[in-house]
Amino acid sequence: MSMKLSTEFAEKFYSEKALQDLVPEVEKAFATVKDHFKKGEDPIGWFSLPEDYDKEEFARIKTCAERIRKMCDVFVVIGIGGSYLGARAAIEFCQGVFHNQLRKDGPEIYFAGTSVDGDYLAELLQICEGKELCVNVISKSGTTTEPAIAFRVFRELIEKKYGKEEAKNRIFVTTDQKIKPGTLKEFATEEGYESFVVPGNIGGRFSVLTAVGLLPIAVSGADIDSMMRGAKEAKEEFADADFSANTCMQYAALRNLFYRQGKKFEMYAFYTPAMELMGEWLKQLYGESEGKDGKGIFPVSVIYSRDLHSLGQYVQQGERLMFETVLQIAHPKVKFDIPKSKANMDGLGYLEGRDMDFVNKNAFRGTALAHQDGGVATLVLELEKEDEANFGYMVYFFELACAISGYMLGVNPFNQPGVEAYKKNMFRLLGKPGYTN
Ligand code: PA5
Repeated sequence: MSMKLSTEFAEKFYSEKALQDLVPEVEKAFATVKDHFKKGEDPIGWFSLPEDYDKEEFARIKTCAERIRKMCDVFVVIGIGGSYLGARAAIEFCQGVFHNQLRKDGPEIYFAGTSVDGDYLAELLQICEGKELCVNVISKSGTTTEPAIAFRVFRELIEKKYGKEEAKNRIFVTTDQKIKPGTLKEFATEEGYESFVVPGNIGGRFSVLTAVGLLPIAVSGADIDSMMRGAKEAKEEFADADFSANTCMQYAALRNLFYRQGKKFEMYAFYTPAMELMGEWLKQLYGESEGKDGKGIFPVSVIYSRDLHSLGQYVQQGERLMFETVLQIAHPKVKFDIPKSKANMDGLGYLEGRDMDFVNKNAFRGTALAHQDGGVATLVLELEKEDEANFGYMVYFFELACAISGYMLGVNPFNQPGVEAYKKNMFRLLGKPGYTN
């Protein structure tokens, strides 16, 4: 496995000297990650996770996933932010956008608790009608409003449909380990639900390779052993702080270099729709980790070539505020040929005998060249293929790069104090006890 970094379409925008000048800073930031991990100063448990995870719980996740796959038609995953994005990104990356329609050997998987929209819940309930159900509620704090509402709805549905005893076999809880009064863990224990742990030293957005992501991913039929192996490979590869050979450090340095030139936005671009949720996961990882103290690169994500027909105009000729990071897949899952046709009214005759990947890779090159001409640098990261091992590898790469980048920016990448601001207002407006004026 590898994450190749190409600067072919970015080199015009910086000097090698400026990059080399940043090396001591990147090394220092990487040393801070390691140091804070050793001292347990920040929640950096993800750093050693690919080697140092709870093997007993991992085995239980696999057994439980097998049981869920046999027992239900619909599996509802309830969580928000770091408690769902990684799982959804992994499932679409490994099993495809149409996994619910195409993978008939396991349940359909839906996500809830990601908004406070009643229409969404009502429609999801319609989908569940007449189907065998299981639910996994995921919340580290156990008190987040959006998933709490959805959990009420689905708990009630399951208890009504199966009775309280059978509900114990169909409701799975992933939350903090500590049993504190009024917490989800306490509730799960009282009700007799099988529960899994969000480790205390791993924050939500870094938790996809814990039970938070692994249970839903395993229920989708994806191979979580390979995923952990891929992450372990990345951990070993990037452990060495030799900048010249470490693409993770290089990526962290380059994005900070562009930021310091006034490029405040990073556009993550993907040429495969199965990576759309990867974009959402990256936006949370980088946005929540870096955007604080009046600083931070604002992460945006686009799917090309779709968004070349919408945002493309802005990227080409609008304000020069951004750089792009394209995440390429070297080898698609299938070779899909352009159909031959006697009629050539679409003018596609010149592509006959070619496959879609040929078109896709040239769309990428054409776009990167155009954006370069338009004053937008493009970094290219290339993974081999869309499978479990590559997903684990990619997750570790971006988590480590994010931690290094955050320390380079001079922020604490592991907290999110700003997230509380909207909650306080919302709770006051809703009249939650303790929040009224
Ligand atoms: O990264 C984070 O910590 C957050 O995005 C959380 O994952 C998100 O707010 C959900 O929190 P919880 O799992 O406590 O419900």
